[in-house]
Amino acid sequence: MKVDFTKVTSPSFVLHEELLRINLDILNLVQKEAGVKIICALKGFAFWDVFPLIGSYLSGAAASSLNEARLIYEKMGVKAHTYCPVFIEEEIKDIVNYSSHITFNSLSQYKRLREQVHDYGHDISFGLRVNPEYSEVKADIYNPAQPDSRLGVTAGQLNNTLPPGIEGLLFHVLCENDSYALERTLLETEKSFSHLIRQVKWLNMGGGHLITRDGYDVKHLINLLKVFKGRYPNLNQVILEPGGAIGWQTGYLAATITDIIENKQVKTAMLDVSFAAHMPDCLEMPYKPKIIGAFEPSGNKKEHVYRMGGNSCLAGDYMGMGDYAFEIPLKTGERIVFEDMMHYTMVKTTFFNGVKHPSIGIWKNGKFRLLREFGYEDYKNKLS
Ligand SMILES: Cc1ncc(COP(=O)(O)O)c(C=O)c1O
Repeated sequence: MKVDFTKVTSPSFVLHEELLRINLDILNLVQKEAGVKIICALKGFAFWDVFPLIGSYLSGAAASSLNEARLIYEKMGVKAHTYCPVFIEEEIKDIVNYSSHITFNSLSQYKRLREQVHDYGHDISFGLRVNPEYSEVKADIYNPAQPDSRLGVTAGQLNNTLPPGIEGLLFHVLCENDSYALERTLLETEKSFSHLIRQVKWLNMGGGHLITRDGYDVKHLINLLKVFKGRYPNLNQVILEPGGAIGWQTGYLAATITDIIENKQVKTAMLDVSFAAHMPDCLEMPYKPKIIGAFEPSGNKKEHVYRMGGNSCLAGDYMGMGDYAFEIPLKTGERIVFEDMMHYTMVKTTFFNGVKHPSIGIWKNGKFRLLREFGYEDYKNKLS
């Protein structure tokens, strides 16, 4: 079950397929027991080599751009549930080709584009993103319901009716939340939107459901969804579109120590990866990922404490949330393996500084399979 990191390329993102299957089993259980559809939001997890596997458990995938919709169509073989904060007119034709559901962020976009969508295809189900103006997410950058948000139509803007042709509603106000936050969110959402939920065929409860996290009360979620569906017999489909929960704790970023720099009291292990370019959430959220074999410094003189340094020139490209302690001193050439590096990593990486982009591979049946390496051409081709 454990990955042998001596057999893994460095630097590389390594998906542990068995761990992914465990997550997919949990999500599939929720789908079956609660009678809902769970789809994979590509914005959080777009490891397309395993899309056939994901498609064999889940009910499809959610796109937030033409590129994501096309990837779903090409690699999962299904049409996407597509929601974009704005749709670009020139892209609509292709988006229609790759989508089964198209959800609009505003009444004005729907009004402007619905005829065009109709002209290109007839079997698209139209939805509208609504803003419940309630969210338990503390960080503004992840809170779509903050006052004056640009995401979704508020109840006040709808005058108790939906525009003709709208068959579904989508709300998304959670982020790494549990089922109890969803329960309170549903209560608040129903206060403003229950009369509109009664007018549609489907309701998409967005992402942010961290169903695969240890301790998530899956039974409570199943019961909550069943009771909710009981209140709205008009709904043919209740959809959840998590991204993070698919790849949660399913893989690693394996790196190598390339130098150790000492300045005053601080020893920095210089890595062949960058926080800014390869793990941006570590700086943005911010959060401190676990490293295999490391522990929190306790002040004990016997432990060996290091800062983890990224390989770009950005002064802040290091783990600023705290150092790591090890039982024995680190050496140049040794592996450093960051845990839980599958979601919101590969989808956000850049070629900043031109530093080598980590390869992508899979650990399966005790073997490492290298899927993709990146080189100069990849760097050059995203510039001009
Ligand atoms: C509309 C929408 N759906 C789904 C998601 C996926 O959320 P998560 O990866 O937190 O489950 C997001 C994330 O931003 C989103 O904006």
